[in-house]
Amino acid sequence: MHENFAWWRFGILYQIYPRSFQDSNGDGVGDLRGVIERLPYLRELGVDALWLSPIFPSPMEDFGYDIADYTGIDPVFGSLNDFDALVVAAHDLGLKIVLDLVPNHTSDRHPWFIESRSSRANAKRDWYIWRDPKGEGGPPNNWLSEFGGSTWEFDADTGQYYYHAFLRSQPDLNWRNHDVRRAMHDVMRFWLRRGVDGFRVDVMWHLIKDDLLRDNPPNPDFISGQQPYQQLIPLYSADRPEVHEIVAEMRRVIDEFDDRVLIGEIYLPLDKLVTYYGRDLAGAHLPFNFALISTPWNARTIAKLVGDYEAALPAGAWPNWVLGNHDRQRIASRVGGDQARIAAMLLLTLRGTPTLYYGDEIGMPQVEIRPDQVRDPWEKNVPGLGVGRDGCRTPMQWDSTLYAGFSTAAPWLPLDRNFGADNVAIERHDTGSMLSLYRALIRLRSERPELALGTYKLVSIAEALLVFEREHQDQRSLVALNFGCVSAEFDAAGLHGQILLSTFMDRQGEAIPKRLALRASEGLVVGLLG
Ligand code: GLC
Repeated sequence: MHENFAWWRFGILYQIYPRSFQDSNGDGVGDLRGVIERLPYLRELGVDALWLSPIFPSPMEDFGYDIADYTGIDPVFGSLNDFDALVVAAHDLGLKIVLDLVPNHTSDRHPWFIESRSSRANAKRDWYIWRDPKGEGGPPNNWLSEFGGSTWEFDADTGQYYYHAFLRSQPDLNWRNHDVRRAMHDVMRFWLRRGVDGFRVDVMWHLIKDDLLRDNPPNPDFISGQQPYQQLIPLYSADRPEVHEIVAEMRRVIDEFDDRVLIGEIYLPLDKLVTYYGRDLAGAHLPFNFALISTPWNARTIAKLVGDYEAALPAGAWPNWVLGNHDRQRIASRVGGDQARIAAMLLLTLRGTPTLYYGDEIGMPQVEIRPDQVRDPWEKNVPGLGVGRDGCRTPMQWDSTLYAGFSTAAPWLPLDRNFGADNVAIERHDTGSMLSLYRALIRLRSERPELALGTYKLVSIAEALLVFEREHQDQRSLVALNFGCVSAEFDAAGLHGQILLSTFMDRQGEAIPKRLALRASEGLVVGLLG
């Protein structure tokens, strides 16, 4: 059915945060053998590809996004042998494996940085961004770290500052240096040869900075109480025009291999985001579209967002949608229980590749983290502003046993207090559960190609009710989503068909009447005839 479409177009991505998915060796931290154990679950869920957050050797100051060796596996996660076993086991089940590539920065314990900081004359000095102090000895410019404070760290031994967009233990690589590019391309080839199916590239829009290191302008919309990073507009420190050449080069490496995918993590407005498809679509296959994560949750703004995104896409570019990840508040807590079902139906019926975040399929909430339980370095650097990411990184809730089937030891982050009721083992047998809804949506999507591949057409928005249609080769589905907390009606006169799925899992097979009624917070997929 899908032979003309690359897997990353019709498939569903599933993000695993490896520390929190499954622990196999009883140390309270998830690992690769644990992921292997849970592959049958992912197969049963029906997803097509797993993206693993970083699993490489790391001091773990940013939990793996500070890499000390790009071509190894951190012992906490296992070994290269375990990784190879994972690739084989996943591929045997028809699941693709996407790795996290973190090319913007390394750990300060990476041998490249250790060399680079050893002296001004070192051959790797230029692999990072070093500058003399400005004027009386201050930092070279006013840029701010995303994680709080200046982006410049002074190195007394060599008398220069180095640049870090995130933690001071995450120095940025200098992507103007072509040896850096070649080294990172070789890292990509190392994993591609080992069988990985692609990469999600960390902070793709940060990769190259202004060559003159000009000061960033102040943000006139800054309101006190926002995180300090927002005081400036990152005009010169991110999304520079030269970044597209770097992405195109990465894409060429990807294209040396068959059927691999290049995904970019990019937080930018839609008009800028879509430039990352590249000229002639020779950039990222999927610049991650995070707009649903921050858009106000109502029918009108979401319809506008979908329309704007569809209109902004370059010809031939394939869309994608994301509801959550390891950096953002969990959808279930953001929009609430029944609306999280609407969100699931939206994600899995919009045009474009969906990415699911582990645990969202069982409705995992943002878990409350006590101050003494905080692990996230961002929260530690900028406390009290609600930036903490631990609450969306808590252990997967598999069953009702002591540690939720995640581990035999106390997990590295606390479990949600309701895990005894909200877990895979219980939801699997409950035909009305969130998990059953996700499974039904995923099944429907694979049975009805219009939901995966068809065109998108907005049919109507009335109050809180959003209705759109998907069509592929004369097969049509109608999706009606009630974002409101009162019932709603849709004029279906002239339409024939039957309900394929309700978010409440109870109306399958109903023929649609002239006026289609939806309960509060109900979503429907209707298969249209004729
Ligand atoms: C990305 C990652 C985030 C990490 C940051 C720095 O935004 O998703 O988790 O902290 O990059 O590497």
